[in-house]
Amino acid sequence: MRVEKVRDGVYGITENLEGILFEGMWEMPKGVSVNSYVVKGEKAAFIDGVFGWDGTRETMDKALAEMDLTLDDMEYIVINHMEPDHSSWIADLDSLGKELEIYCSKESAGTLKAFFGREDRINIVGDGDTLDLGNDRVLHFAKTPNIHWPDTIATYEEKSKVLFSCDAFGSFGKLTHLFDDEYTKEEREEFETQQIRYFSNILGTFTPMVGRGIERVKKFDIEVVAPGHGMVWRENPEKIIADFERYVSYQKGVAKEKVLLLWGSMYGMTRKMVDAIEETLKEENMDYVSLCVTETDMGTVLEHAWASTGIIIAAPTYEYKIFPPMASVLDEMGRKRIQNRLALYAGSYGWSGGAIKEFEEIMKRNMMKWDVLHAMEYNGTPLEEDRKEFTEAVRGLCRAIREKVAG
Ligand code: FEO
Repeated sequence: MRVEKVRDGVYGITENLEGILFEGMWEMPKGVSVNSYVVKGEKAAFIDGVFGWDGTRETMDKALAEMDLTLDDMEYIVINHMEPDHSSWIADLDSLGKELEIYCSKESAGTLKAFFGREDRINIVGDGDTLDLGNDRVLHFAKTPNIHWPDTIATYEEKSKVLFSCDAFGSFGKLTHLFDDEYTKEEREEFETQQIRYFSNILGTFTPMVGRGIERVKKFDIEVVAPGHGMVWRENPEKIIADFERYVSYQKGVAKEKVLLLWGSMYGMTRKMVDAIEETLKEENMDYVSLCVTETDMGTVLEHAWASTGIIIAAPTYEYKIFPPMASVLDEMGRKRIQNRLALYAGSYGWSGGAIKEFEEIMKRNMMKWDVLHAMEYNGTPLEEDRKEFTEAVRGLCRAIREKVAG
């Protein structure tokens, strides 16, 4: 646990995690940090919890000593969100014999009982409620449901003007420093890929609610954004707020001027068309990423799909339907609400087509609303006329993307 002062009376406690799957399924090539905070007034409060705490009194005492506090000084825990990456330490804290007073939403209270058997000393807070810690330290609460679970709230401390936003404004990526101004421009750009990955993998399904939650917290006079994952934004808090607003807007279909080419091939016949597509994208100077669906983790596909205005799917027919690994990835894209994209489809078949039919069914069932500009199935290896037909469609896609992004 690393302790660092955020502002007078406000401290961050951070832990880097790696080599695990987030929510038991999402790969994190750059790891992730889990951040909690302490606010010190006359009384002191934890805000969210540290996933990596070993549960011992010794470790907790050492961390609190760096803030000139002891466990006896701590009165409250604010639970912004009950997902165990933020809450799992409550049982450990209770087991130390220090059952702190909890402040949380009513939805969190129900989960507290289910997860940790905790039913006592719970105070329900809602939009506009406050908790006075003394010494002019007042916590304000705002409901931000579904960023990321229905229980989620954000907490704002009025003297320091710090917003503790939990999953909102979060990111994957381990922290080498705590604050935005301690990273180089290049490092911050790299972090932005981790922000998009985090947004698409964890929050994408709830995008409209994320947009509403951002509007709600913007009523505070924010000078520092202190999220539950990723860096603390003290130099440029407007940047991370604007980034998240942009990611919300990507769902409407205007994302980066970029193409995700997602493909699969059994015996190389669809792969031949993929080669022609890539050549055309290069000729068109279009930014693109080419991912083989059987060799790429779902999180990476979602990261690039979220950021791309255009998506090209290339996959063969398999047993009268779409190549199964592509079908399951498309379904997950639908569940994560990757909507309103400009799209193309191409794939080889042996004795019978059928992939496009299932592709359309997946689009419809998930209400993906992709604008499919061209879809074609060809028999066996692509003939010159097949390549010509589809590469013309790729050029048309590039034009459509540029027009859409230009507004
Ligand atoms: Fe960082 Fe939804 O937990």
